[in-house]
Amino acid sequence: MSQTPKIAVILGSTRKARFGAKPAEWITARAKAHKDWQVDLLDLQEFDLPMFDEVASNAWAQSEDPKARAWQDRIGQYDGYIFVTPEYNRSISGALKNALDQAYVEWNRKAFGIVSYGALGGARAAEHLRTIGIELQMAATRSAVHIAGADFFTVHPLGGDPKPINAIEGTIGGSADAMLDELDWWTRATMAARAADQNRADQDIKGAA
Ligand SMILES: Cc1cc2nc3c(=O)[nH]c(=O)nc-3n(C[C@H](O)[C@H](O)[C@H](O)COP(=O)(O)O)c2cc1C
Repeated sequence: MSQTPKIAVILGSTRKARFGAKPAEWITARAKAHKDWQVDLLDLQEFDLPMFDEVASNAWAQSEDPKARAWQDRIGQYDGYIFVTPEYNRSISGALKNALDQAYVEWNRKAFGIVSYGALGGARAAEHLRTIGIELQMAATRSAVHIAGADFFTVHPLGGDPKPINAIEGTIGGSADAMLDELDWWTRATMAARAADQNRADQDIKGAA
């Protein structure tokens, strides 16, 4: 396990006319500047995941679909995640839920932060995401970035004259810093705990040999 945390920003909207790329690129740049992390932006559009059609979660049975397995291999490389999610009908996007369902063990005992957006800042989607994270044995940061209300319409095409996300940095920058700081703490804590587990398992194997 490397000492430098590897963080994936996961862009959770896949539709052609999506807004989500804008906040995803913004938080990726901000995360790279904020910490000594390796940060990659993973766009669900590029993974082209099928709808979940396995016999079980990969907690119980290895997935058969090669795209699902490629997704699991990719996300398994990271120590923590930032989910960038829209709010669709008061929850996360179907695409992001499907991507979360397509793996299990790779998410376990890792931390995540959230950037959500919508009229109410995607707050209801973010809360659903935290609950999903419990089942996936993940640790969610308390702080999240919510692009809400007038800020949302300042940067979203629905507002008529969309500005770059930097235009609202004054209101969301503080929560971005808080989320990134908390994600750093939880990521390093879970990295250390997973490494200790691995050491114990290695000792048990040596002891049994
Ligand atoms: C199917 C659908 C459901 C939506 N439901 C909500 C909602 O519950 N709350 C909200 O604030 N915005 C809602 N919106 C508006 C989205 O916040 C807005 O379209 C946003 O751009 C979606 O993210 P995306 O462009 O990255 O896909 C909804 C949009 C769609 C297409």
